[in-house]
Amino acid sequence: MFLKNAWYVAAWSSEITNDLQQILVLGEKICVFRNEEGEVIALEDACPHRKLPLSKGRIKGNTVECGYHGLTFDCAGQCVWAPGGGRIPSAARVRPFPIHERYGLVWIWMGNAAIADVNEIMDIPNFDNPAWGINQGAAMELKCNYLLMCDNLLDPTHVAWVHQSSFATNATKDTPLRVTKTEDGVIVHRWMMDHEPAPFYKKIVEFTGNCDRLQHYEVQYPSHALIRAVFTPAGTGGIDGPLHEKTFIMDSYNFMTPTTANETRYYWFQLRNIRPDDEVLSAMMSEDVRKAFEEDRAVLDQVQIGMDTKTSPHIDLGIDAGQLRFRRRLEAMIAEEAMVDAKMEG
Ligand code: FES
Ligand SMILES: [Fe+2]
Repeated sequence: MFLKNAWYVAAWSSEITNDLQQILVLGEKICVFRNEEGEVIALEDACPHRKLPLSKGRIKGNTVECGYHGLTFDCAGQCVWAPGGGRIPSAARVRPFPIHERYGLVWIWMGNAAIADVNEIMDIPNFDNPAWGINQGAAMELKCNYLLMCDNLLDPTHVAWVHQSSFATNATKDTPLRVTKTEDGVIVHRWMMDHEPAPFYKKIVEFTGNCDRLQHYEVQYPSHALIRAVFTPAGTGGIDGPLHEKTFIMDSYNFMTPTTANETRYYWFQLRNIRPDDEVLSAMMSEDVRKAFEEDRAVLDQVQIGMDTKTSPHIDLGIDAGQLRFRRRLEAMIAEEAMVDAKMEG
């Protein structure tokens, strides 16, 4: 079960072309392409006649022609031509999905199209800020349920064991976490005071000596995360900080799209508040982040197998409080949505 009335990332904008292709979102097959105006169109990927995926057909102008008997659909999914010279059956249509492009990503609304509101797409305040740099990011396929990655992104502690050569320091092992519930998600956060910067950040920050460091791990429903890292010279951080001109901030945006029940397409990019035009820095950050995320993938793929084949119950720890809270609320939202749908159908 997934939350349907929500925006998910369907693809990078650069991945959608004038060719038909099939993507999977929440287990649904969707045919995507760009029309003559360059807009991204998303249609249910099953011809209503014999269910050949439309993505196996052809684009004809601003329509899609089925590759089996030629039923032809416009960009709203309505059949506009049928073979054999007969009339077009009223059921000859496919479901269109609302789409919106923002942040170089294609967003898709999987629920009731009548309530799709682009204002609900995650807000990314510094995306267009010329003072901030970006490392463009990428996508990877995870062989795990998307909630395992949501758990991971509400879990600042795992870096101590999973990312030893990049994000870890001793402070990441045992500094207590704080959990804050927001209107649209959960934040797990902590300040770690006066210690050496972790290896990945040591190469980037523009001050020497020890730092105060914030880990801000936030996941918004259904599955979009902001991981904010703040590094500031020791003594300038904490609840009322950071107040230093050399404070480094990196906002890592992470989007988990369930493709099936136990597979996820994971998208990300990072914004930083220093050296916006430094392409060498962007390339180095991209490379290091990708390596670190490969470390997460290796763990999570195995966790999925472990949870699927467990022969004894698993346990929860105090460090899991944020993710358990996130899961509980998301489950309630999904149940609520299913109830509304059932009422509408009834
Ligand atoms: S399967 Fe599409 S027209 Fe027959
Ligand atoms: Fe990680």
